[in-house]
Amino acid sequence: MRELIDQLVNSSELTSNEYAYLLEHLDNENQEYLRQKAAEKAKQYYGKAVYVRGLIEFTNYCKNDCYYCGIRKSNHNAIRYHLTKEEILNCCAEGYQLGFRTFVLQGGEDVSYQDLDIVSIIEAIKEKYFDCALTLSIGEKSYDSYLKYYKAGADRYLLRHETANSKHYNNLHPDSLSAENRKRCLYDLKEIGYQVGCGFMVGSPHQTTENIVEDLMFIKELSPQMVGIGPFISHKDTPFREFANGSVDMTLNLIAIIRLMLPNILIPATTALGTLDHKGREKGILAGANVLMPNLSPTDVRKKYMLYDNKICTGDEAAQCRQCLQRRIEAIGYQIVEDRGDCKPLK
Ligand code: SAM
Ligand code: FES
Repeated sequence: MRELIDQLVNSSELTSNEYAYLLEHLDNENQEYLRQKAAEKAKQYYGKAVYVRGLIEFTNYCKNDCYYCGIRKSNHNAIRYHLTKEEILNCCAEGYQLGFRTFVLQGGEDVSYQDLDIVSIIEAIKEKYFDCALTLSIGEKSYDSYLKYYKAGADRYLLRHETANSKHYNNLHPDSLSAENRKRCLYDLKEIGYQVGCGFMVGSPHQTTENIVEDLMFIKELSPQMVGIGPFISHKDTPFREFANGSVDMTLNLIAIIRLMLPNILIPATTALGTLDHKGREKGILAGANVLMPNLSPTDVRKKYMLYDNKICTGDEAAQCRQCLQRRIEAIGYQIVEDRGDCKPLK
């Protein structure tokens, strides 16, 4: 096991069988070793810096019906909202004051925003906050739409691939969605020039070790600048309400493995990790993550963007509580920095 981990540290890759073995046979001692090696690797690129992104969840309307997601269109208990351009700009103004130099616009696939609307929001943000990076996370679009957003000034795009395996993808989504189209989107985004982020939920229903290994192989092949992974957490108003939550330890081990596979990338310690374990995000950083995404949405809408039960949104994870976050990060020996936080080149 030690040799396998050292091999991953030194060559940044393993075979499918080796990943499967690693995932299934990691004991406590080796788990610590793996995470420590991943944190060391992150430090070689980013030192003790942790980047922050102001997350603006600007709409919870969605035309999709993903079986795991609390804002799926069939959840009639969800109270829907979307923000106007002015409200989004107010979030950015507050975020800028608080020291954020990246804004992430995330939302469901809300058909009420046409490309023109999205472009106008991007242009307004980039005109005022030209020293900031802008990340979009608004789902599957055409090449043409992605190109328009990029030309308007968007820098990055987060689109978790969810699972690289088509059959597993079909277990998580209705027929209108496919793994092929999701992957097509990611390659389109990359070709256009975005810094791209993919990712998946750990412990999603029907996920097998083979599926996770396929995810790792896909991530290595895509070679994105960002990878977001977090545990699956069930939501009471979805078809997956009875399924168990994903494992925090498995998520941390995967953060570490992905850090060792792609040493220079940006990996968030996600809100889902912080929801299942109150020290989850600190543990994420200590396993090789280097990004936090505090919530910058207006307080009155936060509880409406409930992707899963008990999602944290008002405590230390609120962007407004930057000092609390700062203290927590300093307590584990890291530092939150005021920076766009772009991906560093591979050494
Ligand atoms: N619509 C955009 C998209 O499709 O990428 C962005 C919004 S979507 C809600 C963001 C991510 O939330 C998804 O990619 C998914 O991995 C995650 N998510 C949704 N439901 C979840 C759940 N029950 N547990 C954990 N993560 C979840
Ligand atoms: Fe669309 Fe979750 S189903 S964002």
